[in-house]
Amino acid sequence: MTSAPPATVREVRLAAVPEGLPVPGDLTVAEVPPPVPRPGHVLVRNRAFQVFAGLRTLIGGAARDTPVPGLRPGDTLFGPAVGEVVAAPEAGPFRPGDLVTHPLGWRTYALVPVALCAPVDPALPDPVAALSSGSAAYGALTRVARVRAGDVVLVTGAAGGVGSLAGQTARLLGAARVIGTTRSPAKAERLVSELGYDAVVTAGTDPGDFADRLAGAAPDGIDVLLDTVGGHQLAAAVDAARTGARFSLVGALDGQLAAGGAGATAPVELDSFRLVVRGVTLGGYRGSEHPGVEEEWTGRFGRWLRAGEIRFPVTRIPGLDRAPEALSALVAGQYSGTVVVELP
Ligand SMILES: NC(=O)c1ccc[n+]([C@@H]2O[C@H](COP(=O)([O-])OP(=O)(O)OC[C@H]3O[C@@H](n4cnc5c(N)ncnc54)[C@H](OP(=O)(O)O)[C@@H]3O)[C@@H](O)[C@H]2O)c1
Repeated sequence: MTSAPPATVREVRLAAVPEGLPVPGDLTVAEVPPPVPRPGHVLVRNRAFQVFAGLRTLIGGAARDTPVPGLRPGDTLFGPAVGEVVAAPEAGPFRPGDLVTHPLGWRTYALVPVALCAPVDPALPDPVAALSSGSAAYGALTRVARVRAGDVVLVTGAAGGVGSLAGQTARLLGAARVIGTTRSPAKAERLVSELGYDAVVTAGTDPGDFADRLAGAAPDGIDVLLDTVGGHQLAAAVDAARTGARFSLVGALDGQLAAGGAGATAPVELDSFRLVVRGVTLGGYRGSEHPGVEEEWTGRFGRWLRAGEIRFPVTRIPGLDRAPEALSALVAGQYSGTVVVELP
């Protein structure tokens, strides 16, 4: 049953631009009057929203060329959410009780332009699966790297929201061998036992060690890279590239989550001679340039989930009050898979 909003609703705001990595005190939970329905908008009671690494850049004070604008102190955070429609324009496509996804998470109630709402695809067995980052993994693998049967695929940041689905997806698309990276030995074990990675290369602070371990895990090199990290992991992947390898860059966590700076750059030295002689193609993936990918991914994800062919690793944090600490824990690498805050 969908009820009217309470007298006050709650939202998470940026209190101060973090100095270095965000700490819970950089965010604040504010109690405000509920949004007032207006034409062309849907009032949604949020059920869950995603906590994601990209927020570090958006709140860092130096966001530039990002798909969504940076935040300033006093702004309410935003990001992918799932919720239940409370009120909607009569002439529009939504009715009270409908489940929708939209970009205004980090608040208990959201007033969302109709055009930014989409119905939760009934193909998904759990509405929270609509908050996965799998479409980025799927789009990067199918549109940029164009993974083929028999490929050896390397996924950096394999335990993260993107990476935990990327390895499984690469396998379902025909990859012969899937290798992941993580900085955590405990996560490494789970990547193999639960998420179907054939091998995991743990990343420490020594780039030489990482390159040696990668060479051990992929003695004949790699055909595809899905990179969420950059830094020395990307440099080592260039050294491991087979002739004609395709690299798809999805993120740059090495810079985005660096303790210093504002998370808005990720410089790295690459051997461009090797890129040339091996004929490596290297491209960035931006979801906004591939409008059909989300729907295609959701359909396939739903079918794979129902058939038991893929797992959706998700860390569920209960309650809006814990959202500020969840962001800090995420950037500190304490979670695996997609991270969501659930609202009772
Ligand atoms: N292009 C697109 O359309 C698109 C869409 C979605 C996401 N993205 C990007 O994809 C990337 C991955 O997103 P996600 O949601 O999967 O991230 P995530 O899981 O939220 O990232 C957290 C993980 O990053 C790793 N990490 C933390 N600090 C790191 C550091 N300094 N160096 C290397 N790894 C570090 C940790 O993994 P370990 O503990 O295992 O090391 C941590 O668990 C991000 O850069 C995000 O902005 C792009």
